[in-house]
Amino acid sequence: MEVIILSDKEEAGRFAADAIEALVVAKPEAVLGLATGSSPLPIYDELARRHAEEGLDFSRTRGFALDEYVGLPAGHPESYWEVLQREFTSRVGIDPSRVSAPNGSAEDIATACAEYEAQIVAAGGIDLQILGIGTDGHIGFNEPVSSLASRTRIKTLTEQTRQDNARFFGSLGEVPHHVVTQGLGTIMDARHLVMIATGAGKASAVKAAVEGPVAAICPASVLQFHPHVTFLVDEAAASGLSLGGYYRHTWNNKPSWQKL
Ligand code: GLP
Repeated sequence: MEVIILSDKEEAGRFAADAIEALVVAKPEAVLGLATGSSPLPIYDELARRHAEEGLDFSRTRGFALDEYVGLPAGHPESYWEVLQREFTSRVGIDPSRVSAPNGSAEDIATACAEYEAQIVAAGGIDLQILGIGTDGHIGFNEPVSSLASRTRIKTLTEQTRQDNARFFGSLGEVPHHVVTQGLGTIMDARHLVMIATGAGKASAVKAAVEGPVAAICPASVLQFHPHVTFLVDEAAASGLSLGGYYRHTWNNKPSWQKL
């Protein structure tokens, strides 16, 4: 686990964009795991800029969303498929046919979830998964006490998460109670995990994920078992970490040949 403490969310976005650019240049058909929420927006803004100004080509990449709400009608502006089109894929020229999300409107959710898992495998697996973290330590929509081995499935949101996400909807009442999300086991199969966490509101979740015990009460703590995970945190999100000095020292002395 590499923890990099950066000055602000824009710098964190540039670091993540560097990793994604390096991947896409080396492997134009890369498979990207795409997160929603506000945390990844600086990454998407930076990649859109590089696409427009520097010609960074995403046309052969494939995208898989982490999660989706259950029961939102097709085309609802807050469905995560729509959010990803709006915030990222349409801005970098990824054809909608190359972007998939779990199907929250399926009549048979369990079968649709199994098909989503199979789609990811058929695409060759996810090369780089972007992650944000919820204030309760969730990743994707894997709420506390999610199985650390879980696969894509339906979950019930905590009231805390519904309140956190109400800002994207007109009111709390419009936030669905159910979601479908890649499981923690699904996320752990991605080859590189890039977590972006910014702001003081994420400090305790980051502390628990990075330095706490691995426990389902903090789903993001499972990342401690992943061989290639990069935490990009700003000063505020890093403020609860005990070993902040060590992480800075490590970064300042990182061998030049070693990439993110
Ligand atoms: C939602 C998403 C997560 C995201 C989290 C944090 O619950 N399903 O993928 O990490 O929100 O959102 P934000 O980045 O807006 O704080």
